[in-house]
Amino acid sequence: MKKLLIANWKLNPAKVKDATALFAAAKGIKNIKETEVVVCPPYPFLSLLAKDAKGSKVMLGAQNMFWEEEGAYTGEVSIGMLQDFGVRYVIIGHSERRRVLLESDEMVAKKVELALKHKLRVVLCVGEPEIVRKKGMRAAIEFVKKQLALDLAKVEKVGADDLVIAYEPIWAISGTGGMADSPSEAIEVVSVIKDVLSVKLKVRLRVIYGGSVTSKNVHSFVHYDGVDGALVGGASLSAKEFKKIVEIVEKI
Ligand code: PGA
Repeated sequence: MKKLLIANWKLNPAKVKDATALFAAAKGIKNIKETEVVVCPPYPFLSLLAKDAKGSKVMLGAQNMFWEEEGAYTGEVSIGMLQDFGVRYVIIGHSERRRVLLESDEMVAKKVELALKHKLRVVLCVGEPEIVRKKGMRAAIEFVKKQLALDLAKVEKVGADDLVIAYEPIWAISGTGGMADSPSEAIEVVSVIKDVLSVKLKVRLRVIYGGSVTSKNVHSFVHYDGVDGALVGGASLSAKEFKKIVEIVEKI
């Protein structure tokens, strides 16, 4: 199965010209064969990049979506709008949204259900805060299992074929000032996620790692058979660095 690399640009870049250049650089990476590359820019750039993404190996993803299809919801963006722009993936439940915008597991579950119902591929982010990991691996695993149970509460109804899980320990995300997890501990959690979900959902889902992934450490995570790719934040904002990451993953 192909490895999956998701570039999460978060609230960057500020200018259209920089977004276009960054996307063009990703699109220009040669010989992408063994990797699915998905770029998730901020909403305003999606419409601009939709044309560039058409027919390209680099797919477009969104960083979020709303759980209702239409209506009086000021400031929100619907799944229909995303799909009309050719968006193929959506990140749901990123820890920054949970922490800063107080997005609850209930909201996350509704979004996951709607996206899967409409065959939009979901990258559901889960991961424990530092205070939990400090208690040990068992506590971290229990935290993640509980998050999965709540966030996937509605999935059985719609089917999980289009679901990907991103294990992102919150303390390892570069925006929190953190450092990447140790690959051996990350793979331990990734394996538990796969096992738990293969029992619950009867499918072997793709599970990727996220948190301070760079060209220096991507191999140490993604070379494991059980790790199906990476979610890359900060490092995806440098065209050169992201190209290196793609090239490394291609060779795995
Ligand atoms: P990072 O972000 O690679 O900058 O740590 C990853 C993420 O938050 O998705």
